[in-house]
Amino acid sequence: MPNHAPVDRRIWLNGQFVPWHEATVHVLSHSLQRGSLVFDYTGVHQTVRGPGIFRLDVHVARLLHSCQLMGLPLAYGQAEIEAAIIETVRANPGSRAVKASAFYASVEVDVVPLDRRVSLAIAAYDPQADILAHLPGPPRARPRTVRLWLEKKTHQRREDIVSPQAKVSANYASGMMAKSLALKAGFDEVLFVNEDDQLAEGPTTNLFVVDATGRVRTPPEQRVLRGVTRLSVIELAHSDGIAVDEADIAPHELTTAREVFLTGTTAGVLPVESVDGRPVGETCPGPVATRLGDRLRLTLTGEAPGFEHWLTYVQPQ
Ligand SMILES: Cc1ncc(COP(=O)(O)O)c(C=O)c1O
Repeated sequence: MPNHAPVDRRIWLNGQFVPWHEATVHVLSHSLQRGSLVFDYTGVHQTVRGPGIFRLDVHVARLLHSCQLMGLPLAYGQAEIEAAIIETVRANPGSRAVKASAFYASVEVDVVPLDRRVSLAIAAYDPQADILAHLPGPPRARPRTVRLWLEKKTHQRREDIVSPQAKVSANYASGMMAKSLALKAGFDEVLFVNEDDQLAEGPTTNLFVVDATGRVRTPPEQRVLRGVTRLSVIELAHSDGIAVDEADIAPHELTTAREVFLTGTTAGVLPVESVDGRPVGETCPGPVATRLGDRLRLTLTGEAPGFEHWLTYVQPQ
């Protein structure tokens, strides 16, 4: 059943604002039936200078790259999309996140759409108040540390199926399945291995490991989504004198790791307390996750000297 919660927001759809409940697609649209919708998502943070959009340019560039990988001929370019996102955040005060979606709205029969016009929708909203609060079930607080399940059988985002770099809805089916099994088994999050059985990423997070020798590693970007938080954490670590290597990590290294943490737009820096039920390290959160999590939080509110340019400030209407 559709969710008819009374959300009073306006969504930018192909250049015009429409009420939240009118931003719909047909049930037979290509995007829905074939999972061809490409999207990107970033945070909108309340700062003393007003709402700030986190790394807008990098997120829009990734959206365009995803469209290119999936062959979606989006008619809008970088500058136009950035301007539309700013306009949408301005039109929706109190929003905490913004999602841009490029999709075939056309009703189609075949896997290759005949009508190649790509729609662009931009929604700025508060995920908690506008979405989660209206969903069934008791309110769920986001965990501060997670119990991780290592999924060894199902892979996701294989280069020989759909590029792991593409943020396309079809790429989230394996994540949905694996994470729902992990949740049923009492875990909070799931982690995938890649085709070579090296650690990869979660359904919506990247992975960092501080190994037994203190070396900080994250899986190479060729086999995972180039997370903007991952990139930001690497840059923050370097500016703090902490070296981060983009290198393979074998699953067995999790058992001896000092720290494991996940990163993502929603997750921030999320420490892992256990993997498959075995505790990680001596303390959780560990010192590296704490340090980088604090640094990231300061950049999100525009309080980290040298990183103010990561936020695009939106002046009120
Ligand atoms: C597969 C995958 N990996 C990693 C991430 C983290 O990326 P970001 O830090 O840009 O949110 C995401 C984001 O949703 C994702 O979908």
